[in-house]
Amino acid sequence: MQLNELGETENIENEAWQALENSILYYQGRPVGTLAAYDPSVEALNYDQCFIRDFVSSALIFLIKGRTDIVRNFLEETLKLQPKEKALDAYKPGRGLIPASFKVISSDGEEVLEADFGEHAIARVTPVDSCLWWLILLRAYVVATNDYSLAYQPEFQKGIRLIMDICLANRFDMYPTLLVPDGACMIDRRMGIYGHPLEIQVLFFTALRAARELLVCRGNEEIVEAIDNRLPLLCGHIRQHYWIDINRLNAIYRFKSEEYGKAAVNLFNIYADSLPYYDLDKWLPKKGGYLAGNVGPSQLDTRFFSLGNLMAIVSDLATEKQSQAIMNLIEKRWDDLVGDMPMKICFPALEHEEYRVVTGCDPKNIPWSYHNAGSWPVLMWMLAAAAVKTKRTSLAEKAIEIAQSRLGEDEWPEYYDGKKGRLIGKQARKYQTWTITGYLLAKELIANPAHLPLISFDKLPAEVVSKACELESNSVSPYLSR
Ligand code: GLC
Repeated sequence: MQLNELGETENIENEAWQALENSILYYQGRPVGTLAAYDPSVEALNYDQCFIRDFVSSALIFLIKGRTDIVRNFLEETLKLQPKEKALDAYKPGRGLIPASFKVISSDGEEVLEADFGEHAIARVTPVDSCLWWLILLRAYVVATNDYSLAYQPEFQKGIRLIMDICLANRFDMYPTLLVPDGACMIDRRMGIYGHPLEIQVLFFTALRAARELLVCRGNEEIVEAIDNRLPLLCGHIRQHYWIDINRLNAIYRFKSEEYGKAAVNLFNIYADSLPYYDLDKWLPKKGGYLAGNVGPSQLDTRFFSLGNLMAIVSDLATEKQSQAIMNLIEKRWDDLVGDMPMKICFPALEHEEYRVVTGCDPKNIPWSYHNAGSWPVLMWMLAAAAVKTKRTSLAEKAIEIAQSRLGEDEWPEYYDGKKGRLIGKQARKYQTWTITGYLLAKELIANPAHLPLISFDKLPAEVVSKACELESNSVSPYLSR
């Protein structure tokens, strides 16, 4: 790098730190979170709130920089917003949920926090991911501070238990995965991800692992047992049924259908004709693969979703071979998945009639825009974390360099549009906090990989792996075994 380039990078970074500082939200004089965006030029809508999922990258940066107070305040205040009683009114949030976002309002001359569980949000979407991210963040706080006392407080133990209660509750569904409505996560608009979307399953797995570490108090034995039962089933299910590589595609392509009973191989009765198998045949590199977007009855969503795949690597849900194969895919299909702005939220876009039917003609989610295969710089920190975990840091370095050349100049847009990600998102906010922190955090993780354990998990305990492997034993892909 030339000297003047170095100076420029420093300027961009300083500007990013300043923008992050400007986004801090104060409540009764204490910092409690960051605003989604601080862009005075457009109507705020709900971007002047602190979103739980958006705050994760801010929080990790604060933890790295030793500003643990903000994260602690955030965890304490959001825990207070969690309903502790059963809702009698079905329109009210259920016990244990963590809101999508919150803001500071004034009531009788006093500041109070107002939560949004999706009841105010566009399309009234449910924030299933919030309680999962909250748990992951609580565990990151413990790792960063080595201070267990916060998580061991009775209110926190109760909060964790309530989250586990909704996640592990009896339900109609008989899969180890979580059944959720459309728009229950980062993609919070209708995008055909209802059912068992990868993003939620990976966050669920990660949150179960976090809860397993944190639930230590007496009286939690039953929940701990339930977690121990669920983890291997969930792990085996995702590794086996979500995995797509050329071997697996071959097997699916020749699947028999309408199999009834215990000996069925095509468990979900997937019809090959529902898959874009010729496109995948061309697109899948020899040594590449990824976890599918969704699996359900006669459903295999073959879209690539970045958050789920990257976090599956970080949380150790993907096996080592699968993790390397996902990174191979990103490397070999760089133009499609990273292009000129890291990185696409999903690939490929829904187009034509499919776009109209699946999104409900959503003008914000037109093909190659926003959630429909737009590019989101926030995903860069997850790419960096996955790259560190798989020892493929050069991929993340390349991505950071690409982003660095544009983000500051473009004033930190929320997302980019286009097949290569060259267009600033049609309705993107500027000074979007998680764009800023996604960039800063990616840089921190690459500069000092010792920060990875904040968010990553060690190898699964041997008994979990062997139980998960039992499920995988009749699989056809060599990537499934470790
Ligand atoms: C959009 C995104 C959502 C994010 C929110 C605030 O709705 O889809 O993931 O939390 O903006 O930035």
